[in-house]
Amino acid sequence: MPSNGARLHIAIQKSGRLSRYSRELLREAGLRIQSGKNDLTARVDNFPIDLMLVRDDDIPTFVADGVCEFGIVGRNVLEEFALGRKEERFDVIAPLGFGHCALKLAAPRGADYDGAQCLAGQRIATSYPRLLGAWLERQGIEARVVRMSGAVELAPRLGIAGFVCDLVSTGSTLEANNLAPVETVLESEAVLVRTRMPIDEAKQRAADNLLKRIDGVLATQGSKYIMMNAPEDALAEITAILPGVEAPSVIPLAGRPGHFALHAVCQETVFWETLHDLKQAGASAILVLPIEKMMQ
Ligand code: PRP
Ligand code: ZN
Repeated sequence: MPSNGARLHIAIQKSGRLSRYSRELLREAGLRIQSGKNDLTARVDNFPIDLMLVRDDDIPTFVADGVCEFGIVGRNVLEEFALGRKEERFDVIAPLGFGHCALKLAAPRGADYDGAQCLAGQRIATSYPRLLGAWLERQGIEARVVRMSGAVELAPRLGIAGFVCDLVSTGSTLEANNLAPVETVLESEAVLVRTRMPIDEAKQRAADNLLKRIDGVLATQGSKYIMMNAPEDALAEITAILPGVEAPSVIPLAGRPGHFALHAVCQETVFWETLHDLKQAGASAILVLPIEKMMQ
């Protein structure tokens, strides 16, 4: 792959479960992604950044080798890769809050299964042989791991294996193949990873900028801006009720002595129960607003 001087490279999944959300996150961080003619890369207009559009399984290699400084990839793919390498050559910077799924063991529906010992001596088909192998070892179970690169869910029907160990997101693939989950090997979601290879100064500046913006996007996930009016003697109680708020802004209301407007950023979800409690404590005219951007 040709390396391009001072441009930062971010590897994301070309097509699949993570690709849309990966692009969305970068867009929310302010990156204007060109829809390029070429299939392998997409240029960012307003930053010295190129996206590499690749298979998710290739992302850990690209980041570990420093071909891409950053990558967005599922923890499942990353950990399977890491188990095959002696030294870690990337750092996980942050979980990204999307792409939630789990690596699960599944059995044909209706099969007898009452615990991991049922797997002893059985054949298990998977594209995650290292994660499965490590899990079996932790359980102290010896089983035959049958490595498949895809269509793992077909293995029992084809007589290749009695069990499968595959990624489950909605569960519809298992269901369509008459399989039922029996054990969870790993919970996963998309994470942002960064190479441990040295990054030159110019790229480092772009990297710092990018990370600050991604931080801003992640910080607003689930957080809300909340406003309300309240009498002075209720302010302490109200502040205590607000989730994840330390120092709200308190603004005097014109023409209403002893009454204030209270504004705050809630870092946690604001539930209807919270609003109810606020009202009980004396708040009125409560408004909860989404936050689009935030920089600390
Ligand atoms: C996984 C897995 C199943 C499917 C499960 O593949 O191999 O095919 O997703 O999803 P469901 O529970 O919503 O039906 P993935 O999207 O990771 O593609 P890949 O393994 O080809 O990279
Ligand atoms: Zn894959």
